[in-house]
Amino acid sequence: MEKLMRSFFLTLGKSRRVGGLARKYGLRLGASRFVAGVEINSSIEAVKKLNKQGKMATLDHLGEFISSKQEAEHSTEMCRRTLASIAASGVNANLSLKLTSLGLDLGSELCESQMRRILELAEQTDNFVRIDMEDYAHCQPALDLYQKLRASSDRVGIVIQAYLYRSEQDVQELGLTNANLRLVKGAYKEPKEVAFPLKTDVDQSYMRLIEQHLLSGSYTAIATHDRDVIQQAKAFIRDQGIPVSQFEFQMLYGICEELQDELVLEGYRVRIYVPYGEDWFGYFMRRLAERPDNVWFVLKNMWK
Ligand code: FDA
Repeated sequence: MEKLMRSFFLTLGKSRRVGGLARKYGLRLGASRFVAGVEINSSIEAVKKLNKQGKMATLDHLGEFISSKQEAEHSTEMCRRTLASIAASGVNANLSLKLTSLGLDLGSELCESQMRRILELAEQTDNFVRIDMEDYAHCQPALDLYQKLRASSDRVGIVIQAYLYRSEQDVQELGLTNANLRLVKGAYKEPKEVAFPLKTDVDQSYMRLIEQHLLSGSYTAIATHDRDVIQQAKAFIRDQGIPVSQFEFQMLYGICEELQDELVLEGYRVRIYVPYGEDWFGYFMRRLAERPDNVWFVLKNMWK
């Protein structure tokens, strides 16, 4: 049943039609628990609150799978505006983005030129840009583009998903170039030909990747709400004498806030992923897919 629900929400999240409809009606169904707002101002306010609690943030202007050059340019503009707002408000935040929103499906050259415009502003405002990882079809193109950009900028990092069989090899190669990686379990619906179907295998793979990348000496963002993994990672970090400046924990806005606070109290660097914007639907569906309990939360909100 759980598997079916996961599959249902992930498929629904990819529907442009339903996404378009959701966009018209604004943040509904309790999505505001996971999405900071539709406008940049509300997301900056959310970041200010997080900063007061001792947490850093990464802002994501929501959007994915666009179909025209104009849309790619609009997304680029929104990313640049986000970086400019971070600089103007002085909040402690960087930027996360999805390459499909910058036209990756329309051609890697178009996407590269959009990324370069964003990185130019990141350089000027002394900031950092993280490329989120999307579904498997975009993994290699994203890594190729990341390598190209990384050759001329150290203000860019990428995400690696533990559910993919290929990730161990990817992390090994990326470790050699001192890549700044965010490690996650993986949020998309992938076939067993490319990804571990069993959660226990994903969890084990995840821990292996964390250890592997930390040992390479490269910066590691451990992005999970899994208490056991966090405990194991903390023990490994202690045993290996890894400096606090070489890693951070990351969690999603509105999820496991107690755990976020605990880590801050223990003196760890904690960064919260803060999504905002009109295109909240796909992101919201992935959060529902991760945890069936959230569906009750939606049902309760339907009548509000
Ligand atoms: P797991 O799914 O095992 O959950 C552990 C516990 O966390 C659960 O028992 C529950 O208590 C809590 N929890 C997890 N998800 C929840 C939810 N939706 N609602 C309420 N509680 C929840 N993925 C991807 O494919 N590409 C990407 O670029 C990113 N980027 C990213 C950034 C950041 C900062 C985070 C934290 C995560 C991502 N992800 C991602 C998502 C990631 O792949 C994964 O789907 C989620 O983090 C859920 O997995 P956990 O590691 O939390 O473990």
